[in-house]
Amino acid sequence: MLYGGQSIRRVTTADLLAAKQAGDKWPMITCYDALTAGIFDETGFPVLLVGDSAAMVVYGYDSTIPITVDDLVPLVAAVERGSTRAMVVADLPFGSYQESPSQALATAIEFMKRGNAHAVKLEGGGHMAEHVRTLTQAGIAVMGHIGLTPQSVHGMGGYRVQGRGEKGKQLIEDAKALEEAGAFAIVLEVVPQELAAEITAAVSIPTIGIGAGVDTDAQVIVWQDLLGLTPGTPAKFVKQYAELRAIIKSGINDWALDVANKVYPDSAHSYN
Ligand code: KIV
Repeated sequence: MLYGGQSIRRVTTADLLAAKQAGDKWPMITCYDALTAGIFDETGFPVLLVGDSAAMVVYGYDSTIPITVDDLVPLVAAVERGSTRAMVVADLPFGSYQESPSQALATAIEFMKRGNAHAVKLEGGGHMAEHVRTLTQAGIAVMGHIGLTPQSVHGMGGYRVQGRGEKGKQLIEDAKALEEAGAFAIVLEVVPQELAAEITAAVSIPTIGIGAGVDTDAQVIVWQDLLGLTPGTPAKFVKQYAELRAIIKSGINDWALDVANKVYPDSAHSYN
């Protein structure tokens, strides 16, 4: 099994392909720092995504659009240093690759040289095929991302389900074009479950769903959403597995009250 499986080396694109062929499902989780990278790695996650969602969960922006290469590269480097087994995938930020295949290549090289990324992810379907081809021909592992592509939120008219009805055909073509260009996996974000199943059957590389139902080869989630750290109402596809916001608030409040009441530090936590 890919999740939790023992390995004395990093997970590779070949391992992910073998998992698809074996029908072995796996989780990918976002990660932005060395400490959580260590926890996720020890738990057995085969792939850690340093997503441009860092724009929101690390930097406090309200979308992924403002984040830059210089913002994201140090986080990628930290995640790589904090892990030993997982493949570390770096998201290419908005504006750092769309202009041309050569811009995409230069940015991917930055992430690999300065961030030690093992793979990069970029958003877009068939219109990004030449970008993907240029990267893969240079020996770079590329993950595609279609469906709801948050960097295009304004062009799409908001965060909405993509590929309903006839529009689904375009997403199937996009997935095939990315595979043909050499992508090793494709994220499918917020698309109807039946369409995700159809795309998963139509390509021989793994599909990784987020809000795409149960039939994709893998699932990805932003860890702060999964564990109840993100404030506000989560998206429909998020199932919360912990209430970290409440746990953190309770712990820091207990400590703060002990400080205010002169109970901390007691003699057991002081030096003679
Ligand atoms: O940036 C991110 O976290 C992502 C995932 C949601 C797929 O792209």
